[in-house]
Amino acid sequence: MSGGEAETVRFEVEDGIGVITIDNPPVNALGPGVREGIVAAVDKGNADPNVTAMVLIGAGRSFIAGADIRQFGKPRSTPARYSHDVLDGSAKPIVAAIHGFALGGGLEHALSSHYRIAVKEAKVGLPEVLIGILPGGGGTQRLPRLIGPKAAMDMIVTGRHVPAPEAKALGIIDEIVEGKDLKREAIAYAKRIAHARPLPRVRDRADRIAEAKADPGMFEAMRKSIARRARNQKAPYHCIACVEAAVTRPFDEGLETEKRLFAELENSDEAKALRYAFFAEREVSKIPGAPKDLQPSRARTAAVIGAGTMGGGIAMSFADSAIPVKVLDATREALDRGLARVRENYAVSVKRGSLSQAEMDRRLALIEAVDRYEDIADCDVVIEAVFERIDVKKEVFTRLDAVMKPGALLLTNSSAIDTDVMANATKRPREVAGAHFFAPANVMKLLEVVKGTKTSIETVAAAMKVGRDIGKVSAVAGTCDGFAANRSRAPFVTEMMLMLEEGALPERIDGVMVDFGYPMGPFAVNDLSGLDISYDTRKRRAAADPNYRKLHVPDRLVEMGRKGQKTGAGWYRYDKGDRTPHPDEVVKSVIAEVAREFGIPQRTFTDEEILQRLLLASVNEACRILEEGKVLRASDIDVMWLHGFGFPRYRGGLMFWADTVGSRAILARIEEWHARYGARWKPAELLREIAQAGGAFREAKPKRAL
Ligand code: 3HC
Repeated sequence: MSGGEAETVRFEVEDGIGVITIDNPPVNALGPGVREGIVAAVDKGNADPNVTAMVLIGAGRSFIAGADIRQFGKPRSTPARYSHDVLDGSAKPIVAAIHGFALGGGLEHALSSHYRIAVKEAKVGLPEVLIGILPGGGGTQRLPRLIGPKAAMDMIVTGRHVPAPEAKALGIIDEIVEGKDLKREAIAYAKRIAHARPLPRVRDRADRIAEAKADPGMFEAMRKSIARRARNQKAPYHCIACVEAAVTRPFDEGLETEKRLFAELENSDEAKALRYAFFAEREVSKIPGAPKDLQPSRARTAAVIGAGTMGGGIAMSFADSAIPVKVLDATREALDRGLARVRENYAVSVKRGSLSQAEMDRRLALIEAVDRYEDIADCDVVIEAVFERIDVKKEVFTRLDAVMKPGALLLTNSSAIDTDVMANATKRPREVAGAHFFAPANVMKLLEVVKGTKTSIETVAAAMKVGRDIGKVSAVAGTCDGFAANRSRAPFVTEMMLMLEEGALPERIDGVMVDFGYPMGPFAVNDLSGLDISYDTRKRRAAADPNYRKLHVPDRLVEMGRKGQKTGAGWYRYDKGDRTPHPDEVVKSVIAEVAREFGIPQRTFTDEEILQRLLLASVNEACRILEEGKVLRASDIDVMWLHGFGFPRYRGGLMFWADTVGSRAILARIEEWHARYGARWKPAELLREIAQAGGAFREAKPKRAL
């Protein structure tokens, strides 16, 4: 094959079988030349009298991970012949041989082949919806014909990766290959089916579609079932519409519908935001300046100090990822209580049906309670999660330094204390870093890895690897008050409390943020985590900083015993055993009382003002964080907001969203509020610079190295 095709698609004849190999590292995305290469290879196979059948296979770690996401939104030419049509129109049978991932366009190429075989570990899926588009290579028309519209719709609307054995049960895969050599097995399979006619083409199947006519309500039911999750988004609904077309229209008309709806989505705001989030999540794990050969190994054993809520959640994260973990606490009582809480959490999942009893038992068996430091000395990583008192934390690190084996990774989950304090309590500060989890630690995906002044790059990389191994998205932050994630969110919290005093009620503010796309409003979330959590921090700050602006409303609620759901009342009132928040007159009167006392004039707010008051305060602080070099890149802040605070993914993240408002408009707004509300709204220097240059927040570079 000539030109670029030669590099990405190979064609060789082995034993009478034409083997088409996609070789486009790292994941065989359908980048420039790949589709054309497939077309040319199929033509070759059909023209060669020695070839009786063909195999489509991927080199390296995967079959095909889908279209090249970097090419979306850019102009491209219409091919003379579509590779899908060429595959399923081939006169000789084609076997797709799948290992690694067959995703999006990858699975669509497999669906256009006549047979599909896979190794057991392979995964298949149509995850396009997760980047705001839909399968545009016939996937919405072929998959329902192969496995029925209901199962197809489930896969297409969730975008989930389906393991090969399940794919076999569904009918996507014809055979699971047991041997180690997929190519050899595929050639043997191809020889077996080489002369079978007619060729089985998915597009010709009608049996599963006919079956769907019995349940015409299924599409409406699906739309209803996703209404909450998919609000403000188009892609999930367009996916459903395409599957509906597969059931109600002939194949070629269905393809037209798919093409038309795909074109509508490709450049939509949600697709742009989701593509950005995809790449931001891959950037976040890169550490500039790290040696190329730095590849930390997987932690085999872990320890957690402190069996409280956080410690228990962290231990669960390890057990959930099959890593044995020891939990150490000062007293047997604390340990028992902690482990009982862990057991309870797992039991809730079993009751809900999201975890089997056997799996619960397996995970619990991985968590061992210990009460001596010597018992954890051999662990590869230890995470301290004791309460936030400097003397206690220092003591823990002195003891860890004394017992832990050389090279062990020493991490602290502190959210309020400088990582350096703990590092300096040891003789190995290079091996100490922060590992800041977000509550509940076993659920929230974000792990903020905090680089102390002396933390080595190897330690940062190892801590990030631990995060990856336990299924977290790790982002690096520099040490400072609140680090990067909470620090960037703190002004949001301040503004939400201060807007109350000006006349916006919790239910109003929550409503605006839910409409924006958050799963819950910030006051409802605060009721869940507890109003008392930040109460002490506020008192401490007020004592330390004479200019600290007191937040009277939450303080008074806590002093009245309203600490959130756990006390039956907080920002809202709760009926016993029910988590539905009910607006409460008591809260209204506390707000009115504070407003009266401090002479704060009452006014009305637009939804836009509420949204901007909260988010722009944080954008301004994020600019300061970049100025001080406390993150590696602006997009890391977005990843933190997506995975730590439930920011709606289809809005990209805080900085991406800010760019949709525009830096100049934001500066103007912030200057206006600076004049009205004073120092806390002073525009950050970097924000001014970005606005003056007409630049983008998401591309802003930190002003200092971390
Ligand atoms: N396009 C472009 N680049 C891709 C890509 C794609 N489809 N999939 C992965 N990559 C890149 C990543 O950006 C990363 O690049 P980097 O090393 O420069 O950061 C590299 O490949 C490795 O990716 P990961 O770090 O994500 O590797 P993992 O092994 O952790 O995960 C994966 C592999 C599960 C395949 C994951 O990369 C993934 O989910 N990829 C996207 C899959 C997808 O969405 N496919 C559908 C595309 S849309 C489509 O096909 C439309 C069609 O219907 C017309």
